[in-house]
Amino acid sequence: MTRRSREPSSGPVRARFGTLAGLLIAVVGIGALAGCGSGSPSALDPHSPQARRIANLFWLMLVLAIVIYLLVVGMVLISLRTRGSDPDAHSDSPGPERRSLSNRFIVIGGLAIPIVVLSVVAVATVSATKALENREGAIQIRVDAEQYWWRLIYEQDGVVSANEIHVPVGKPVVLTLTSDNVIHSVWVPQLNGKVDVVPGQTNRMSFTAQQTGTYRGQCAEFCGIGHALMAFVVVVQSDADYQSWLAANRATPAAPTDPNVVAGQRLLVEGSCAGCHVVAGTAATGTFGPDLTHFGSRGSIAALQLPNDPDHLARWLAHTQDVKPGALMPQIDLTQDDVDHLVAYLESLR
Ligand code: CUA
Repeated sequence: MTRRSREPSSGPVRARFGTLAGLLIAVVGIGALAGCGSGSPSALDPHSPQARRIANLFWLMLVLAIVIYLLVVGMVLISLRTRGSDPDAHSDSPGPERRSLSNRFIVIGGLAIPIVVLSVVAVATVSATKALENREGAIQIRVDAEQYWWRLIYEQDGVVSANEIHVPVGKPVVLTLTSDNVIHSVWVPQLNGKVDVVPGQTNRMSFTAQQTGTYRGQCAEFCGIGHALMAFVVVVQSDADYQSWLAANRATPAAPTDPNVVAGQRLLVEGSCAGCHVVAGTAATGTFGPDLTHFGSRGSIAALQLPNDPDHLARWLAHTQDVKPGALMPQIDLTQDDVDHLVAYLESLR
């Protein structure tokens, strides 16, 4: 008697505690998701039809999960309540009515509803995946994943750049993804889902950016010590701005006249830099590292590790391995004058 009289009170208390814990987890989870939206790129802040499909799929699954969660918790609470007040519930041989109710509940709750829910999710997922497979595009850009930066080749326009993918707004873009080293993965959450970059295979990603702006991307597959520092941006511009960016990046920089810049150019072309870097119009023709022909016009250094200004560039040249541990650019012995001259030259390359 003592045992039975305790059950109805301790059951609901425990259930209420469980509900509270569940709510707490949900609130913390939603808070964490909201945190993704501030500052860092969020897949829930789509700026292309492709990213919107992915975000919609997420919301559909989240709503279904919440509804099912509330249903299950609700039924657990109801069963705890009725079990406490229904003496028949403790009987070892329930009557035929109760058995038939249980069977119906199992068929509907355990079979019919899951089949409907999973079918809805399956159809939505397959149709979204199909839509993302459309690889038609006016703008074709080859993206070679290097360790740990991105080489960008606009073959139709004769432009080679690094880490800043410029595209025009409202036009379908196709990125052709290749790697000659290890597996990487391209991810710009606001424009499309992840696509792996696999050696010996050409993958493609397409998107149509709907709003001008700068969208951060990141390598999303562990590729070595510098993986976390392998970022990039997609710069979405008006068509006119994009065309003038292309024209500026096609041009060969004028020969320098400023003595500091001339000294920097001589250092780069005659020193070890030229073994790995190209500067169009000079004898620097190495292709192992990023093309530096228009380095001064880029917004960042070392795949977004530093803003591109003279102070940060000096730091990069003098402390390469501290700024980006594992970078394949070796620490080069440079005097302060060398650094100053190289900075003057590189920043002049626009
Ligand atoms: Cu490239 Cu991770």
